Amino acid sequence: MTKFRLFAAIIFLVISGTINNHRLLAQEPKSNPVLDEKVRKFLSDRSGRWYDMNIPARDGQLLYDLIIKGNYKSALEIGTSTGHSGIWMAWALSKTGGKLITIEIDPDRHREALQNFREAGLSDYIDARLGDAHELVKQLKGPFDFVFSDADKYWYKNYFIDIDPKLKVGGCYTTHNVYERGGYGGQGDYLEYVRSLKNYESTLVQGMLISYKRAER
Ligand SMILES: C[S@@+](CC[C@H](N)C(=O)[O-])C[C@H]1O[C@@H](n2cnc3c(N)ncnc32)[C@H](O)[C@@H]1O
Repeated sequence: MTKFRLFAAIIFLVISGTINNHRLLAQEPKSNPVLDEKVRKFLSDRSGRWYDMNIPARDGQLLYDLIIKGNYKSALEIGTSTGHSGIWMAWALSKTGGKLITIEIDPDRHREALQNFREAGLSDYIDARLGDAHELVKQLKGPFDFVFSDADKYWYKNYFIDIDPKLKVGGCYTTHNVYERGGYGGQGDYLEYVRSLKNYESTLVQGMLISYKRAER
């Protein structure tokens, strides 16, 4: 083999190895059977006993799937309540190597959420903050690659405008209880506003608006 061929072969092996490693890192979720078992048991024990405006389990599964599929790592939730959606998202983030910041204004719900996060074994993946998201969201530096907006509906558009510059291109912004014009929800012109943005691609799935940021502007 000439020196050139040997050199080319080494470069090929290094590049293909790097690509394969990158694929592994990017796509394969971390496996933690002990944690999985603990979370599954917690969710099963609590099934049908979420009373604080919490999302249904099928929406939790949707959030989980979106995070795993996008390999998202820096997530933000507005409206923790007692933590049902937070548990689904943090469970997914435990596999992608990410973390969730979640904000709640009600001290009792915040306290209960902390307890639920501990019981589910997911506290390490959650930074739960007590306060008014109208202010806290402005203070957060980001960047985020996944957002779940589920607090005061009439403020949805303001949250979006504040977070948009902190959402990475390729990131996903989800909003709960969004309906076509005339539907219940108090969301104002939020849906029309997001749909009007050329750099976002949105779909409405069972009351969940899923918006992917395709470009900065
Ligand atoms: C629909 S619940 C969230 C349910 C939660 N995502 C779940 O599925 O488990 C909305 C929550 O947002 C909180 N909230 C409302 N306005 C808020 C604000 N300005 N800042 C932070 N939290 C707020 C409410 O106290 C309530 O607990």
